[in-house]
Amino acid sequence: MIVIVDLLMMLMDMTYSILCAIIQTFLHPRLKCIDGELCLITGAGGALGRLFALEFAKEGAHLVLWDCNTAANEQTAKLARELGVKVHTFTVDLSKRRSIYETADRVRAEIGDIAILVNNAGVVAGRRFLECPDELLERTLLVNCHALFWMTKAFLPRMKAKNHGHIVTIASALGLFTTACVEDYCASKFGAVGFHESLAHELRAENHDGIKTTLVCPYIVDTGMFAGCEIRRELRSLIPPLEPLYTVQQSMKAILGEQQMICIPRLMYIPFLARALLPWEANVVTYRFMGGDKCMLPFIKNAEMKTSNGHVKAS
Ligand SMILES: NC(=O)c1ccc[n+]([C@@H]2O[C@H](COP(=O)([O-])OP(=O)(O)OC[C@H]3O[C@@H](n4cnc5c(N)ncnc54)[C@H](O)[C@@H]3O)[C@@H](O)[C@H]2O)c1
Repeated sequence: MIVIVDLLMMLMDMTYSILCAIIQTFLHPRLKCIDGELCLITGAGGALGRLFALEFAKEGAHLVLWDCNTAANEQTAKLARELGVKVHTFTVDLSKRRSIYETADRVRAEIGDIAILVNNAGVVAGRRFLECPDELLERTLLVNCHALFWMTKAFLPRMKAKNHGHIVTIASALGLFTTACVEDYCASKFGAVGFHESLAHELRAENHDGIKTTLVCPYIVDTGMFAGCEIRRELRSLIPPLEPLYTVQQSMKAILGEQQMICIPRLMYIPFLARALLPWEANVVTYRFMGGDKCMLPFIKNAEMKTSNGHVKAS
């Protein structure tokens, strides 16, 4: 008898959540105030990281910016300080657990508790799998996935103690469905999505409802990370690469609206659902039609033209 009552309650809650989600799609959700909160952003020297830093600064959040590229990180800090917020920078190698833990200790001791953690840093090997040096494959997993474990272990305990915080994972549409020739990246982003969702379930199961989570899954963004990647010419205007600022502004709406997940653009839910619902061969023929099966080849050619430090090979 109790199970029937529980089932009915669950169905009512489910219907209510679906209705809320539909309404939120059409209405502007109420955005939370983060004025004076301390926000840590990884990969803050990069394209999206810098834009996130500036958007959080516009909302009045004080910033802790992490990147391995000191000069780029300092440039982001300079721009954010002009918006009147306090900014602290740290040079960290996110592929090294010790570097993360040591820097996190310094942040907690010298600055304070992090309220919003934006795990944004990411890399891609940009080589064909069998031609890719093992270290590059490993680095993608370390930065895009393992670093999430260590960042969360470092900053979640204080969030739990206060039942206050927000963990944001910048994953990718390639964490929800895949394409050819980005094995390292897909593996790392599927890992990031799995980690994020499991953590979100854990927080809910433990009734830590003051700690929010947001998973961001963008399609290709015009930042240079996937420069050259292209689908079939006739379809390119239907799904063009995203503008970096648009991507970050959409993500900010989801974060401040305490939305659990956002795919940018919404069209990305279609291949995500197709992967789950259609037979494998049906997905293969769709990819082939759209040019999705070979879309990474020009990108890989581009990446191969460069050495690991970004200079074009003399050849
Ligand atoms: N650009 C895209 O097409 C796209 C699409 C979907 C998701 N994303 C994700 O968005 C995030 C940001 O991407 P972006 O386009 O701004 O990339 P980007 O290359 O411009 O920025 C990445 C930043 O991470 C930093 N970084 C890399 N390795 C690091 C390490 N070991 N330690 C510390 N910092 C390190 C880099 O120095 C750089 O500043 C990434 O997680 C990426 O996977 C990007």
